[in-house]
Amino acid sequence: MLREITIRQMHFDDIDNVYALEVRFFPNPWPRSFFEHDLVAKKTIAFIVECEKEVVGYSLASCNDGKFHITNIAVTKECQRKGIGTELMHRLERIALDRDCTYAYLEVRTDNTAAIKMYENLGYAISHRQRLYYINGDDAYVMNKELR
Ligand SMILES: CC(C)(COP(=O)(O)OP(=O)(O)OC[C@H]1O[C@@H](n2cnc3c(N)ncnc32)[C@H](O)[C@@H]1OP(=O)(O)O)[C@@H](O)C(=O)NCCC(=O)NCCS
Repeated sequence: MLREITIRQMHFDDIDNVYALEVRFFPNPWPRSFFEHDLVAKKTIAFIVECEKEVVGYSLASCNDGKFHITNIAVTKECQRKGIGTELMHRLERIALDRDCTYAYLEVRTDNTAAIKMYENLGYAISHRQRLYYINGDDAYVMNKELR
């Protein structure tokens, strides 16, 4: 059965639901305070994905001095491979361009092949490896893209 997916701006009272997913998704989840801090910052762009009122995904980014940093994106297992991650990225990029950010970048664990594939499909390329980027000592690839 086709279930209705909606994407909307994230609000402060979404944090409980988003944080519950964050701890499921990532070996080193963001502390809750990161979401709280980001959501009050003007430079932040944050979306939430709902499926029949249940939160099934989210994304955050920030625009700074013409640079667009995608800081967090996740979609629940049951909803993956349906184009939601790609749609979230497209929405973020459209807002980046509206704010005159023409250079986008992000960090991704070097073994996160699913995410790397999605970013490559969207035109991101690996610029370099950042050693010990994550708190547990994992390395990251920094990937970037010129937006137009
Ligand atoms: C990365 C993530 C957000 C992708 O979300 P998604 O909604 O599944 O993405 P899409 O459906 O738009 O997939 C886009 C493309 O990415 C690639 N991809 C996505 N998941 C994949 C997987 N498990 N294995 C291989 N390729 C994958 C595919 O090329 C896919 O296109 P296709 O389905 O037409 O083949 C999702 O896998 C996720 O939440 N992972 C856990 C959290 C995470 O790692 N976030 C990224 C942190 S940097």
